[in-house]
Amino acid sequence: MKGSHLVSLDEWSAEQILHLLRLAEWMRTHRDDASQLAAGSVMATLFYQPSTRTRLSFETAMLRLGGHVAEYEGRSLDTDDLVFRETIHDLIRSLSQIDDIIVIRHPREGSALVAARASDVPVINAGDGGHLHPTQTLADLATLLRLKGGKLRNLTIGLCGNLAASRTAHSLVTTLCRLGHNLHFVLVSTRQNRMPDWVLARLDRTPGFSYEEVDSLRPVISSLDVLYMTSFYPTQVEPTGQARQASNSTANGKRLSRDYRVTPELLRAAKPDLAILHPLPRGLEIDRAVDDDPRAAYFTQISLGVDVRMALIATLLGKLPQQFDESVVFAEQGSDVDE
Ligand code: CP
Repeated sequence: MKGSHLVSLDEWSAEQILHLLRLAEWMRTHRDDASQLAAGSVMATLFYQPSTRTRLSFETAMLRLGGHVAEYEGRSLDTDDLVFRETIHDLIRSLSQIDDIIVIRHPREGSALVAARASDVPVINAGDGGHLHPTQTLADLATLLRLKGGKLRNLTIGLCGNLAASRTAHSLVTTLCRLGHNLHFVLVSTRQNRMPDWVLARLDRTPGFSYEEVDSLRPVISSLDVLYMTSFYPTQVEPTGQARQASNSTANGKRLSRDYRVTPELLRAAKPDLAILHPLPRGLEIDRAVDDDPRAAYFTQISLGVDVRMALIATLLGKLPQQFDESVVFAEQGSDVDE
């Protein structure tokens, strides 16, 4: 995988993804051994959309590997200045002559693919519009494997929020179609914010998978093993002035609050081992009182996100640790994920 890009996890085999997740676990438990793996390498970061977790997680991962970070300061996409309207192709082609690996977040779907095709060094998609967010998915998978005993099988997984616009939900579901077994998805959204047809088509084509679409969490909460929340509420404003998530009017705020919000009261009906995930940032869809519930896993996702990005950077740079013995790592987790 040295020299590869990560635009979509679809480009990687199930075995390659599992290998990376095993390496992430090693990174977590061998910080000292990992601390010089990327010494001398430089990672360029280009974030055309706001990011806190993903950007800092990548930067921290590179620093923990002993490498360096060059932050492209970014330019407004709607500027009239021709110099700043350089194409992604030219910009990435140029940066790939300077840096060893490139991380890009961009509001346009397909932008990471354009960047990868232009680049002479590995490009990592840190979120392209409403399309995909593969490194968030790696963090999500690491969290699920940890909380579900290393198993991605026989689970009922709820996804709730603006499923039309949620790149994290799209990436997670399509990747689970290749790594999971016998999964049932409960897709909770308004009619306007349904999961896109291209994701539903993937579910339809996956043997042993099924799904239902509902318009409220309340009737289904007791059936869920996993609840993956995404935001209905606009929490970030893009440089272009558009909200990342489709906004809602105050008129239907009460409905959103009743049907799409996780509260301690809602969780009284949930399973004791429910895992509640959210890529963050959150709006109002998870009451802060839920944070102290042991079922809340959204801060664990952030922590594991550094490990998976360390594993990813080391893999794409070809800087793998000689001490890594993946058979031992996964055996300890007791995984029965089919490979
Ligand atoms: N989960 C996620 O992508 O968060 P940021 O927007 O803060 O990077």
